[in-house]
Order: sequence, then structure tokens, then C-alpha cells
Amino acid sequence: MQGRADVAVLVLDQVSRDFGGLRAVDRVSLQVARGERRAIIGPNGAGKTTLFNLITGELAVTSGRVFLFGQDVTALPTQRRAALGLGRTYQITRIFPTFTVRENVLLAAMGLQPIKFALHRPLLSNGPIWRRTDEVLERVGLTHRAETPARALSHGEQRQLELAIALAGDPRLLLLDEPGAGLSPVERQLLYALIQSLPRTLTVILIEHDMDLALGLADRVTCLHYGRVIAEDTPDCISKNEMVQQIYLGSG
Ligand SMILES: Nc1ncnc2c1ncn2[C@@H]1O[C@H](COP(=O)(O)OP(=O)(O)OP(=O)(O)O)[C@@H](O)[C@H]1O
Ligand SMILES: [Mg+2]
Repeated sequence: MQGRADVAVLVLDQVSRDFGGLRAVDRVSLQVARGERRAIIGPNGAGKTTLFNLITGELAVTSGRVFLFGQDVTALPTQRRAALGLGRTYQITRIFPTFTVRENVLLAAMGLQPIKFALHRPLLSNGPIWRRTDEVLERVGLTHRAETPARALSHGEQRQLELAIALAGDPRLLLLDEPGAGLSPVERQLLYALIQSLPRTLTVILIEHDMDLALGLADRVTCLHYGRVIAEDTPDCISKNEMVQQIYLGSG
């Protein structure tokens, strides 16, 4: 544990979260190494999203400790954790629909609310933030849609934009909550190819219901069930794990 903690971008130490009488996350300990692709799998209500909220600070832990990039962040608010290099996407889209694709990414790159955007807009073109925005749009394959209002994007493109928004903050650790949810199989494949192509300087933890997708992308897989880690292993071993198989067969 000590040795890996040096290179771990995320360490959870016996983290729990209660909602009233319900223990949604139950003494979860895990370490994610720099550059790793980690999948979190588990049935509905297993505590996956709650776990993400504990990592980002959107929820406080009931007990346990959270370390990001070697620093104890358990008491730090969300913005401070983001400033350390933590980015995330949400299960529910957070895009400004009337703004263009580029404007949505610019906003995220500046960390601004839309109301302030009009004031800053004239100062932006050709600045470093503008270049960063172009890079990110290129990376997610949305350059040709830069001037399109976000509301006109297809479902798959909206997911690409969400990824761009998360990347705009130049995170070192990216949390993706079911990025493929609601997409057609083709759109999902595209998005996964995109995630696969992200540089290894970025560590990615993703929640994914689809076992094939999760196992195809991840270096290691953590399986949650009733808030507990019931298995953590390589994709190969996870797919052969009897307990994991039972849970997935049992939950359809
Ligand atoms: N804010 C909350 N207040 C009360 N209970 C909550 C809250 N958030 C989550 N829960 C409960 O905690 C448990 C874990 O929920 P969570 O959303 O983390 O599961 P999940 O693994 O992300 O599920 P899904 O696959 O459906 O997204 C569930 O029983 C849920 O009802
Ligand atoms: Mg969830």
C-alpha cells in the first residue's frame, strides 16, 4: 500500500457515506495509479455515483479519508479539489443549450458563469484560453461543430461536448459517470474510442453499466455491491469472478 500510494492520484481510505439509515458507501478503500484507466461497475444503487460525489467533495464523507495527488482533501470543498486537477462529467447533462459548442468550452476553460461571459468575450480571441478551447474541440472531434448552438447537437455529440467541457479545465484525474448512457451502440463506440485515445498523462475513472465496454477500456475494474467493494481485479479476472457474474446475472 505504501509503495503504490506514491504514484497514486487517488487514494480512498475506508470511506463511508450514510443517508439516514442507509449506508450508500461502505468502507471503500482503493488506490488508482497515475495514468490508469479504472472502471467502477455494479448494479443500480450500488453507490457508484455517491462514491464519485465523495471524491469530488459534492458530498461529505461520513467517515474515512480521501487523498488526491498525495494530499488529504477530505475537508476541502469541491472547487479546491477541482483546482488541484480533478474533473468530472455528470450522469445528467450540464450544457448551456443556447450557447455554441465553442462558447460552452470557453466558459469551462475560463471557469466562468454565463452572465460574465459577454464581458470577457471580446478579450478572448487568439488568447491562450482560445487556443486551449480549439485543442480540446479537436481532441473530441467537434471542431466542425464549434459554431453550432449546443441544443442542435445529436445525443452523441452532446456527450463529446461534455467530455470537452471536462477537459477544458485541464484535469489530471477525470471522473466519467456513465458516459455512454442513452447513446446508440454506434455513438457509444465512438465515445469509447475517444476516451481510449485520451493521453496517459490523464488518469480516468469511469462508471459503466455495460460490462463489455468497461472491461474493454479498463486496466483494472472495481465492482461495488451495496456500497462495498466486492472485487477488484484485471478485466480478465473480473469477467471470470463468480461473485461478479452472480450479481450481473441476478440483476439482469
Ligand atoms: N442524496 C441522497 N439522499 C438519500 N439517498 C441517496 C442519495 N443519493 C443516493 N442515495 C441512495 O444511495 C444508494 C446509492 O446510490 P447511487 O446513486 O450512488 O447508486 P449508483 O450505483 O450510482 O446507481 P445507478 O447505477 O442507478 O446510477 C441508493 O440506495 C440511493 O437511493
Ligand atoms: Mg449512478
